[in-house]
Amino acid sequence: MAKTLEELREELGECTRCSLCRGRNNIVFGDGNPDAQLMFVGEAPGRAEDAQGLPFVGPAGKLLDRLLEDIGLKRGDTYIANVIKCRPPGNRDPLPEETEACSPFLQEQTEIIRPRILCALGRVAAGFMMGKSVQITRIHGQRFEGAGYFLVPVLHPAAALRAASNMDLIRQDFKSLEAYLAEDDSPPEPPAEEPEQMGLF
Ligand code: URA
Repeated sequence: MAKTLEELREELGECTRCSLCRGRNNIVFGDGNPDAQLMFVGEAPGRAEDAQGLPFVGPAGKLLDRLLEDIGLKRGDTYIANVIKCRPPGNRDPLPEETEACSPFLQEQTEIIRPRILCALGRVAAGFMMGKSVQITRIHGQRFEGAGYFLVPVLHPAAALRAASNMDLIRQDFKSLEAYLAEDDSPPEPPAEEPEQMGLF
């Protein structure tokens, strides 16, 4: 029988697979509706997330809630996770060894939830999902074909909080998300073989 999110969380345990375990207060596994059509993937927990053990509960998370509300959704309609599950010191970008150790859990979460649309929040998550470094300002708001889902990279809400010009762009990204959700075409089938690593290409 297929694994559940609860079983996957148990398997993660009190993880010591990378050195981020030494500085964390809480593992931020992920949260939301296991049957969600829309799944968000962020980069890594920040201070508030590390303190509460939940994804996107700080200022960027509050903006995410408002953006969802603007398109008629609640956070509980979606599932939210991150590429890595422990806070990097000073919120630096995840290191390759951290992503390598942690991302199999994101991959399994995606396989359990099977969202129709996977929305990558920001450059780091989009780059991880696409298997290459990306310029988020060039690709945000577009819809790409993924392995069993459509991938929609958007600006990171934290970037919108830093610059007012980004706020208009992220609102447009969420309008595009709303339109993609309303379409009834199916994403490409996932591969029969387990992919060695996540990524579209
Ligand atoms: N930023 C992220 O990328 N993830 C979170 O969970 C919070 C802020």
